[in-house]
Amino acid sequence: MTEPSLVLGDITRQRVDAVVNAANSSLLGGGGVDGAIHRAGGPEILAECRRLRASHYGRGLATGQAVATTAGRLPARWVIHTVGPVFSAEEDRSPLLASCYRESLRVADELGARTVAFPAISTGVYRWPMDDAARIAVAAVRAARTAVEEVVLVLHDEAAYEAFAARMR
Ligand code: APR
Repeated sequence: MTEPSLVLGDITRQRVDAVVNAANSSLLGGGGVDGAIHRAGGPEILAECRRLRASHYGRGLATGQAVATTAGRLPARWVIHTVGPVFSAEEDRSPLLASCYRESLRVADELGARTVAFPAISTGVYRWPMDDAARIAVAAVRAARTAVEEVVLVLHDEAAYEAFAARMR
């Protein structure tokens, strides 16, 4: 049982072992968290992502899966890239969103990371309603069997922070 903590801030500035990126399946970067991490972390991250594509992920990283790279110039040691599901009102994709948290913690365990920071995966470009994403994220972290000692959920604005705080009660 891992009880996450909440931080209002910028995930690229978190002093943790690993930061989780809300990545694109191409692993080639994008906007939002993806853009911020690549901008702040520098070209080493993309270079390693390209190598991962060439060796294992030619068809892209699947939704709900996770893979680690260097964190480049970030304070963290690793970036764990995970692909969130795009929200759908027709189909329940919540297991895929929960998988992003579970698989990222599994990768963190493989790395020996003890502190991990997550963004609110899928709640930006992928349009997942914040409150529901908070419910899934908090439950997934709490249910995770992991050696990670500290999980920080990093929210980028007050509304997101309040939505997560409400789900932590
Ligand atoms: N630190 C923490 N959180 C952030 C930051 C940041 N620097 N920048 C944005 N966020 C928040 C957003 O406000 C949102 O709540 O992260 C959450 C996730 O938003 P996105 O980054 O848009 O991620 P997502 O919805 O999962 O969409 C992923 O967007 O950028 C592309 O390449 C990416 O295709 C992928 C898709």
